Amino acid sequence: MANSYFKHLITLSLLFFFISPTFSQQSFRPKALVLQVTKDSATTLQYIAQINQRTPLVPLNLIVDLGGQFLWVDCENKYISSTYRPARCRSAQCSLAKANGCGDCFSAPKPGCNNNTCGLIPDNTITHTATSGELAEDVLSIQSTNGFNPGRKVSISHFLFSCAPTFLLKGLASGASGMAGLGRTKIALPSQLASSFSFDRKFAICFSSSDGVVIFGDGPYGLLPNVVLNSDSLTYTPLLINPVSTASAFSQGEPSAEYFIGVKTIKIDEKVVSLNTSLLSIDNNGIGGTKISIVDPYTVLEASIYKAVTDAFNKASIARNISRASSFAPFEFCYKSDSVLGTRLGASVPTIELFLQNENVVWRIFGANSMVNINDDVLCFGFVNGGKNPRTSIVIGGYQLENNLVQFDLAASRLGFSSLLFGRQTTCSNFNSTSTA
Ligand SMILES: *[C@@H]1O[C@H](CO)[C@@H](O)[C@H](O)[C@H]1NC(C)=O
Ligand SMILES: *[C@@H]1O[C@H](CO)[C@@H](O)[C@H](O)[C@H]1NC(C)=O
Ligand SMILES: *[C@@H]1O[C@H](CO)[C@@H](O)[C@H](O)[C@H]1NC(C)=O
Ligand SMILES: *[C@@H]1O[C@H](CO)[C@@H](O)[C@H](O)[C@H]1NC(C)=O
Repeated sequence: MANSYFKHLITLSLLFFFISPTFSQQSFRPKALVLQVTKDSATTLQYIAQINQRTPLVPLNLIVDLGGQFLWVDCENKYISSTYRPARCRSAQCSLAKANGCGDCFSAPKPGCNNNTCGLIPDNTITHTATSGELAEDVLSIQSTNGFNPGRKVSISHFLFSCAPTFLLKGLASGASGMAGLGRTKIALPSQLASSFSFDRKFAICFSSSDGVVIFGDGPYGLLPNVVLNSDSLTYTPLLINPVSTASAFSQGEPSAEYFIGVKTIKIDEKVVSLNTSLLSIDNNGIGGTKISIVDPYTVLEASIYKAVTDAFNKASIARNISRASSFAPFEFCYKSDSVLGTRLGASVPTIELFLQNENVVWRIFGANSMVNINDDVLCFGFVNGGKNPRTSIVIGGYQLENNLVQFDLAASRLGFSSLLFGRQTTCSNFNSTSTA
């Protein structure tokens, strides 16, 4: 027994030894990688990345999920690849993925259905549906970048992901075949890519209303015409760990893979909004606090916070002579466009300030991120009511992140944000997509 286990170990390490020259074949090691993203702005408001996987390579549309635990794809429909390998029970891959179970599959072997494999729980975080799926590895190909342009493609020969059945795609943008998780696990894209190429465990997102980029690795990050963002351009706040998973299904003791920050106070037009502050911290059951999510198109506030914030915003709007218009679902507070001036930072409406670890660290939300244009005549306050007792009190959604560069530094456990890039005369659509490969 011990002997065969030992033999297995040797085989494994030999395998790794022979496989690891992935990089030496590619004559350079990328310092950063880029995923170009488009927003499905017509229907689902999801952010979609195209990633190439398998042998031969197949382009897949994957929904980007900031807090997702790993990459999962539909293996049930047309998964053809000569390099697909299921993860054998108790292998190093299973332990890296924290995939403890061991399963068999009672039908003909194929991707997603193999004996003696460990499994994960792929999670559709849009419909909150989860199921089980085998852990596997296959080739993944992605573009490198110098931070300014995309460069040559590089591949990872043993990229870990989870298989899922076709039904899990329900609720995703049409043409999507899975989700790309950027969460805080060892097998989510940021950590797996960083360890494959030995670069910093950092990544940044920069999304506009139509497209954008995810850049894995450190900056500087360049945006046309001449904007270069580096750590001096960002304001940092600690990333907090929620001790209880926020996934649709999980095992006990698992922390959340999502990114939480500590909002302490909210001000609107410089006035403190009075809130039940205990909702702003994460309790021992993992309830409360503030997270960032791009699978939520708009910021979602717990009911009492929503009421306090919208009352304060409406009062401050009236003080600015902005006139109310009828509501427009899902938004309750809408205003007549002709009563609002336009500025470089969007509609001139009350500024929302999220105070983080101290009085000097402030995330300011200006009109471009707070107001949603419904038509020529009406714009609405783009925050929605999350009802009573949600798991997380404040979910900062996609719209409020647009045209802000947000960096997640996993090693230092901190989040950096640029503030609205309109202030620097650029947008998140301005990554120069001309390849220099
Ligand atoms: C798994 O093993 C069982 C029992 O030996 C067998 O009936 C089944 O076909 C196998 N499944 C696969 C996918 O190999
Ligand atoms: C504040 O929120 C906490 C957590 O939900 C709740 O237990 C408490 O009753 C609330 N306090 C008030 C005054 O509403
Ligand atoms: C709002 O309108 C009133 C009456 O027309 C005017 O006196 C006041 O200065 C206006 N306030 C702002 C902030 O424009
Ligand atoms: C984008 O990058 C390419 C390659 O470096 C360069 O030739 C081109 O001028 C850049 N585009 C703009 C608008 O600067």
